[in-house]
Amino acid sequence: MSHDTIALNQRMNRFGGHAQVWLFGYGSLIYKADFPYIERRQARIRDWSRRFWQGSHDHRGTPDAPGRVLTLVPDPGALCAGMAYLITPEVFAHLDHREKNGYLRHATTIEFDDCDRAEGLVYIAARTNAAWLGPASEAEIAHHIATSEGPSGPNRDYLTHLAEALRALGEHDAHVFAVEKHLNALDRREPG
Ligand code: SIN
Repeated sequence: MSHDTIALNQRMNRFGGHAQVWLFGYGSLIYKADFPYIERRQARIRDWSRRFWQGSHDHRGTPDAPGRVLTLVPDPGALCAGMAYLITPEVFAHLDHREKNGYLRHATTIEFDDCDRAEGLVYIAARTNAAWLGPASEAEIAHHIATSEGPSGPNRDYLTHLAEALRALGEHDAHVFAVEKHLNALDRREPG
């Protein structure tokens, strides 16, 4: 699969004909909603966990030195907390471009905090995509993030904004917070 998933996502018509679609965000889509939405609700999806296992050639790194950003990996029984947005189908043109580096739209059941549910979409970068970096220790991931930067800014901002957003939602993510802890420890070791 090529890095650029725009064409594949445009062919995805799971909610074709719907006037409004729910989108679940678990990474930068939690803290950076640079698109119009009708409604936004704290939500979660089942059987997936966040991991910094996806390479970023276009936002938090470059093709020669990709940064590390989040994707979801299958994890039976896990609950992934995030933010759901009710959007109109036209918004997918912007989202497909933003998430073009390996992410594909997947249909999922979204559970809201009041126990309500809806079918919706989530962007996931699978291990078969060309920008996939895969597992590393949380210390290695922190080091990688500390040294990466791309057109959207330093890779560390992606991590710290997400960690702050999760705390503001009252959510704990062991992987994200462990990587943040390693990054803070690296910063303390920096001279000056
Ligand atoms: C998401 O936030 O839902 C997808 C991954 C990202 O853009 O960080």
